[in-house]
This record gives sequence, structure tokens and C-alpha cells, in this order.
Amino acid sequence: MKNVKIALLGLGNVGRGVWKILNTNKEEIRQRAGYDIEVSKILVRDVNKDRGINVPKGILTTNPDDIFEDDSIQIVVEIMGGIEPAKDYMIKAMEKKKHVVTANKFAIATCAEELFSVVKKEGVMFKYEASVAGGIPIINQINDSLTANKIKEMIGIINGTTNYILTKMHLEGTSFDDALKEAQEKGYAEADPTSDVEGYDVAYKLAILTSLAFETKIDVNQIYREGIRNITSMDIKYAKELGYVIKLLAFVKDIDGNLELRVHPTMIPERHPLANVNDSFNAILVRGNAVGDLMMYGRGAGDLPTGSAVVGDIIAILRNGLSVNPQENRDENVIVRDINDMENTKSRYYIRATVKDVPGVLAEMASILGKNDISVLSVIQKGKGKENVGLVFITHETLEGNINRAIEEMKKSPTVEEIDNIIRVEKIKNQ
Ligand code: NAP
Ligand code: HSE
Repeated sequence: MKNVKIALLGLGNVGRGVWKILNTNKEEIRQRAGYDIEVSKILVRDVNKDRGINVPKGILTTNPDDIFEDDSIQIVVEIMGGIEPAKDYMIKAMEKKKHVVTANKFAIATCAEELFSVVKKEGVMFKYEASVAGGIPIINQINDSLTANKIKEMIGIINGTTNYILTKMHLEGTSFDDALKEAQEKGYAEADPTSDVEGYDVAYKLAILTSLAFETKIDVNQIYREGIRNITSMDIKYAKELGYVIKLLAFVKDIDGNLELRVHPTMIPERHPLANVNDSFNAILVRGNAVGDLMMYGRGAGDLPTGSAVVGDIIAILRNGLSVNPQENRDENVIVRDINDMENTKSRYYIRATVKDVPGVLAEMASILGKNDISVLSVIQKGKGKENVGLVFITHETLEGNINRAIEEMKKSPTVEEIDNIIRVEKIKNQ
């Protein structure tokens, strides 16, 4: 059996998963890859840290040149995260003709052009299955199995941390902060969980999926993004009462050749296929013009699920014989697509307001909605007899621009104390 030396950049949550899989499934991997894989160096910040796994101290290093300057290392696995120095290290590795595997959606989504130009120039393999939806092989599906299709839309839960938080809030009444702490302890969250909570992580992943599925280039800043920080236990309570669950969803839709791209918390009916995707699970609904509706489901974060995708990429490189060849020109196939303005997107909306309990307040609010071409699907009024009452509207489908105008008008009304929250509502297809 041939031997191949690889190096890991990072030995955190994902690194530990990769290490465990390479050891636990050693025989199967050896058979499938056709190589004995030897992890010969691992870059870390602190070689003395207790990592809870049995890694020989001699292979840990804090000097990246121990890896780049070692010609016997043929694959570098970047699982440290962040842009710098991770991107710089990936480029250095490729310039030394080493193949690269990464789980780093931040770097791929924001530096794709630079990274892929080096891939092309150096003719190395660059794989990043773990960068989107952890253990779900969505990138391979889009790049290989679904290439016969025109993808019409994708809707996904593609962040494990926020799905864990929302699940805990919905099913167990856990507070936001406690649920986030648990997600961090379980190894799901980014080093800085702001990326998860504010929806940046989802936007990076959506940019990667969109660029592959729609053969285009996506500037992450073009993606409309809202995180889950504003979702309160009150919203969860109303959602339950109305028969919905709240999920952080990523959307990309082909609208006559343009793209609608958005990331935001969404109320979905309890019977929606994504409604029971709980805990750190992710799921992606793909709508292709040939395959129809397809849903992929699995663990979106965590050491072993993510390690599964990383090790799968290492095996794919080995099965390709570690060959270094000039790559096809990726840019030739790029289609420029306009991104639709959010004002022109359509949705149902949940509007929660605190209003004065005075006669005619409900009629006034309904009239503002009506004037802005918004019809009401359902309404709940809570707290009758108190100075202020809670008012919740679910609207029929309308333009976001109409909602924005109505909200501005409501805010000016002396009977409205506060617009507490606005959440888009997704309906089940064809309903
Ligand atoms: P992590 O637990 O924070 O681990 C990062 C590792 O990188 C640590 O071992 C750290 O060393 C090392 N490191 C960081 N900066 C370094 C530097 N400048 N020089 C040397 N070593 C450095 O992160 P993680 O959760 O494993 O995530 C790693 C990557 O995978 C990120 O890109 C993340 O987005 C992605 N990812 C994570 C998951 C997940 O479920 N966690 C899933 C999919 C993708 P020390 O240990 O010595 O501090
Ligand atoms: N922090 C990310 C998540 C890791 O929670 O989904 C997987 O990309």
C-alpha cells in the first residue's frame, strides 16, 4: 500500500473530528483511498493545550513553514478558520504544489477569485465540501449529481448553531443565551459566534451554493441578511399559537434570470418540510427543472459530521491519484446575474406591535395595511383591559415595499407604542 503524508492546519472541533475518523475508520479509508494516510504535522497556536485526544506531541507545531517547506507533505487540510492567516496559508500550500482541503466558508465566500486563480495556476486540487452544511454532501450534489438541471431555487437551514438555539427556544423554552452557550460547548459555533447569530455564516454558505448552482459570482454584501438576535420568547409563543415554527432560512430563487438572495428568520407552517429539522441538523430543499423537489438532511455542524466531509475530500483527492494538472478556466462559465431588490420580493409577514388599548386601534392598523395593498390573513389581540395590548397580524403575500411603507405609517400613529417585530412567513408550496 502507498503512503501519503498530510498536514492539518488547526486541531479544534473539526480537527479533532478529522483525527478521530482517520483513526477509527483507518482500514476502510485505506481500502477506499488506496493509500495509508499519515498525518505528519499539525499546526496549532498552543502545543501544550489538552485536546482530549491522543495526538503525539511531536507532530504538533506552531511554525507553518514546517508544513510548507516539507516536500513530502502532499495534502494540506485548513481547518483553523478566519481569513488571515488561513487564506495566506492555503495559497502558500498550493504554491508548493500541495492539494488543499478546507472547511472555511468565510474565506471561500469572500476570497473565491484569489483562491481559485491560484488553484488554476498551480493545477492543484482544492476541495471544500465541509464549508456548507457540515456533513451533508451538498457541494458534490450540485457539482456532480444535479448538473443535468436548471436549478430554480434552493431554501435551506444551513447553520447548526442557530437551528440549535431556535429549537431549544421553541421546544424547551430555553433562553437565547443559554442555548447559545450549549451550542458553543457542543462545538457547533464559530470561534466568534456573532457570525452564526447575525446570519453572516449563512450568507457565506449561500454565496458558495449560489455561485455553484447558478454559475455566477456572488458578492456576499449583495445578500440581504438578518440574524436571530431579535427573536424573543414572545415571538416563539405567537408562532406556536398560530401553528408555525421559526427557522433561520437561506433563500436563492431564479426570478426570470435574476436572483433573489436572502437570509432571515422565517415563520414556517408546522407541516412545512423544513419545520421538523431540529437541533444541529441542516436541510436544503433544491428545486430543479428536471429532478423536481429534492431535500438533503443531516448534521450541519460538529466534529464528526464535519470531519466526515473533510475526510471525504481527502479520499477524493487520493482517488484522483494526487495528480497536479492545469485546471479548466473556471471564469469562462460565469454568468452575470442581477440581484433583485428586497423591496420587490414577495412574502407573507408577521407583524407584532404594542398598541394603546383604545377603541378603533385595530381598525386603524387594518386600515393602514389596506391602504398599502396588504390584506390580513389572521389577527390576534392580547391583553384586553390593560393600558397597552399586543397585536399580531399575519398578512397575505405582499411586496416588501408595501410592508415597509405600512410600518413607517404605523410608527407615526399615536396609538402605536412599538413595532416589536416583523418576521417573514413562508407558506407551503401551492397553498
Ligand atoms: P476551532 O475549534 O476554533 O479550532 C481552530 C483551530 O485552529 C485550533 O486548533 C487553533 O489552535 C488553530 N488555529 C487558529 N488560528 C491559528 C493560527 N493563527 N495559527 C495556528 N493555529 C491556529 O474551530 P473549528 O470549530 O474546528 O472550525 C474550524 C473551521 O471549520 C472554521 O473555518 C469553521 O468555520 C469551519 N467549520 C466548522 C464546523 C463546526 O462544526 N465547528 C463545521 C463546518 C465548518 P489552538 O487549538 O492551539 O488554539
Ligand atoms: N458554525 C457553523 C454552524 C459550523 O453552526 O453551522 C458549520 O458550518
